Amino acid sequence: MKSLAIIGSQWGDEGKGKITDLLSQKCDLVVRYQGGNNAGHTIIVGDKKIVLHLIPSGILHDHCTSIIGHGVVFDPEAFKVELENVLNNNITVTPEKLKISANATVITMYNKLMDAQRESKGTVKIGTTGKGIGPAYEDKISRRGIKLRDLLNKEELIKKLENNLTEKEFLLKNLYKTEYPTIEEEASRLFELGKIIAPFICDTFSILDHAVKENKNILFEGAQGILLDIDYGSYPFVTSSSTSYGGIFTGAGMPSGKVDEVLGITKAYTTRVGEGPFPTELFSEVGEFIQKKGGEFGATTGRKRRCGWLDLPLLKYSVKASCLTSIALTKVDILSGMDELKVCKSYRYEGKDIDCAYPGIDLSKVEPIFTDLAPFDDDFKGEPSENLRTYIELIEKELGIPVSIIAYGPERSEIKFRKDFF
Ligand code: GDP
Ligand code: IMO
Ligand code: MG
Repeated sequence: MKSLAIIGSQWGDEGKGKITDLLSQKCDLVVRYQGGNNAGHTIIVGDKKIVLHLIPSGILHDHCTSIIGHGVVFDPEAFKVELENVLNNNITVTPEKLKISANATVITMYNKLMDAQRESKGTVKIGTTGKGIGPAYEDKISRRGIKLRDLLNKEELIKKLENNLTEKEFLLKNLYKTEYPTIEEEASRLFELGKIIAPFICDTFSILDHAVKENKNILFEGAQGILLDIDYGSYPFVTSSSTSYGGIFTGAGMPSGKVDEVLGITKAYTTRVGEGPFPTELFSEVGEFIQKKGGEFGATTGRKRRCGWLDLPLLKYSVKASCLTSIALTKVDILSGMDELKVCKSYRYEGKDIDCAYPGIDLSKVEPIFTDLAPFDDDFKGEPSENLRTYIELIEKELGIPVSIIAYGPERSEIKFRKDFF
């Protein structure tokens, strides 16, 4: 048995989908444990581009069981659309292949309305994906959440929605002055969607428990990134789930008590979508160049991603916050052939130089200190050039963990494994 976690080490979109897809080839189970359809994981297979939001990236492989754990917030309507899209791409989805926890929390229409209203009318804009993620997690934590199993019994569902809506109704009507569905309408909508999901609903914790006993290979597919973690991230500009290592244990369960390896998926530069501080952000033509060459548009919302140089103090923090054991360095090809190459090794903060972005540091007040490196110009056909080696070695030295994977293109073949994972 071997278990491996794929975790974004920055602000998301590091290439987790691609790496999960490749490593799932040798896995029995691929598990999503947090987040929801705010994620957008892109997998390129030949001339096909598949973007998965809720369904684990293991679904592309028929030998894999894909699991959506109880820590996920689940929009039944988004699932319906995604399922149709996956099936249209000739990918098999059966209840044997896809298992969804009966205890996953449902994203209701009220959650989506609240998300949209807060973003458009609130005083602090987070730049959310607008999928109702935060409000759904609020419902869960306040013990008013609708669980997937509730969709199977309409009378129960109406009772739960009554309890759920009381306070929101007041806000939607009086504060936000917006339309919202009646409880009866929302119950009917969710109940109908529940019929589509019913065959997939089960007890996923027990499936994991058996898998551990049967020595299966398990891969946990994280969504978002460590700097978007509700506790470890750049609060309040974060998502509402535990995106780091700890989220695995609360969001899916790992009965063996530990995950063998934690692979931090790391873009060779930094990107961020939405609001919030970003110390190494480039406002120059260089940033624009990286954005264009890297095709840096959000896979879920289509928004332009902000771009900047690699930020080692942030990554050093991510290594500690999420127990990373090695790095998969992605999109190295985008930096190849540039006229200049910089990396941030430390920050100037409150008159001191610091090399690790511990929580409590106000990231909007740090001054990044950049080191110039000799740019590399590699075609990735043979061994890495000396300059690329220097870049990788610097990352390894500063972070204290190895770079175990180098990805240099979106295709499945554009990757170098520097170690065997399974
Ligand atoms: P995720 O959310 O972490 O799965 O990442 P996204 O799918 O949102 O964004 C990563 C984008 O980069 C996708 O369009 C991938 O197809 C693409 N990609 C992944 N790895 C590489 C790489 O090494 N080089 C290039 N050029 N593109 C890559
Ligand atoms: P993947 O899995 C990048 C960001 C949003 C916003 C913040 C809060 O593809 O890496 P939310 O809708 O979650 O309440 O938004 O988090 N965000 C992501 N950014 N990649 C993602 O997922 C993201 N999921 C959420 O842009 O800043
Ligand atoms: Mg993404």
